[in-house]
Amino acid sequence: MADHAPSVALAAVLKPSCDLPEDTLKIRGYDFNQGVDLQAVLKSYITTGFQASSLGLAIEEINLMIEKRLEPAEEEDDGTEDVHHSKSGCTIFLGYTSNLISSGIRESIRYLVEHKMVDVVVTTAGGIEEDFIKCLGNTYLGDFNMSGKELRMRGINRLGNLLVPNDNYCKFEDWVTPILDQMVLEQTTEGTHWTPSKMIHRLGKEINNPDSVYYWAYKNNIPVFSPALTDGSLGDMIYFHSYKSPGLVLDIVEDIRRINSHSVFAKRTGMIILGGGVVKHHICNANLMRNGADHAVFVNTGQEFDGSDSGARPDEAKSWGKIKMDAKPVKVYADVSLVFPLIVAQTFALHADKLTAGKVTAGKKTD
Ligand SMILES: NC(=O)c1ccc[n+]([C@@H]2O[C@H](COP(=O)([O-])OP(=O)(O)OC[C@H]3O[C@@H](n4cnc5c(N)ncnc54)[C@H](O)[C@@H]3O)[C@@H](O)[C@H]2O)c1
Repeated sequence: MADHAPSVALAAVLKPSCDLPEDTLKIRGYDFNQGVDLQAVLKSYITTGFQASSLGLAIEEINLMIEKRLEPAEEEDDGTEDVHHSKSGCTIFLGYTSNLISSGIRESIRYLVEHKMVDVVVTTAGGIEEDFIKCLGNTYLGDFNMSGKELRMRGINRLGNLLVPNDNYCKFEDWVTPILDQMVLEQTTEGTHWTPSKMIHRLGKEINNPDSVYYWAYKNNIPVFSPALTDGSLGDMIYFHSYKSPGLVLDIVEDIRRINSHSVFAKRTGMIILGGGVVKHHICNANLMRNGADHAVFVNTGQEFDGSDSGARPDEAKSWGKIKMDAKPVKVYADVSLVFPLIVAQTFALHADKLTAGKVTAGKKTD
């Protein structure tokens, strides 16, 4: 019997390594012997590996957006009638799916809009109406396993593990119908040209409630785009209302010009996109108009093997010119409800003093 291992096996197992670049991060997680310091735990994520590292990179990328945003941008008059030149060094587009407004992520989003930390918002219909509905009635914690048949018999709607009583939608109809009446009247008598973003602005004014994301968007004049605004309860209400008082027109053409102008005339842009579908593509497509966003963070659970836009990684968006070729975009594969408050804690909330210095929020100077 041979007294040493076969050389082929030794060469295979003990193959020598080339040196990695000097600046390659070493994997090391948080040591709880340092006590419970949640900020230090979050700081350790970047060197923890897997999606913890992606989260750490997303935090770095958003902090870069914030740093650039604080640089003043020269306002240029290029003689066009588009009046969307941003005074911000980096125009931040925030997009999120409807379910996130139904969840407690609404409060993180409201914080960003309340303190003018983002410049342009995009969401789907449910992301608009659920914000107002929450001002009229509560959303409750249920369970993913509750029976659909039993819930239907009780008039309770389930959204993941959240429960929304159907009465909330009846209250929403009572609230929104007189506003729709008024919108039709203004269209007829004053020639008001309604768009989804103008309607959301008006609803934000009417709700007059500081819990609402769109109350703050109205107060702070932050545009909110929702090109498929009728695909939800708002669409149901517009449908019912059209029998009683027909004629309301919502122009999506004016809105596409408006959102694209926010991208085209920005000094730099950053995209923070939570979830996929319409919101992800609408923001990316607006950024195509400037040959790509400078910064991008995607947080979603989508996978790319089915060719969906929801699952497409940022590198696919580079191929379309929606993210700049030399940008360093980050995708975090995670449920937004788990990670977005952590992201806000380490970015916007951490730099709140700098971001709000000198800004007037709802009539109050915040510095
Ligand atoms: N509350 C609601 O969800 C609600 C209410 C009314 C109407 N709708 C309508 O349903 C339609 C579809 O909704 P949508 O386009 O907002 O998104 P969606 O619910 O279809 O989600 C799109 C993709 O986003 C990703 N995603 C969603 N939630 C996520 C999470 N928590 N974490 C990580 N990734 C996540 C997933 O990849 C998902 O496939 C819209 O037209 C909307 O108006 C939704």
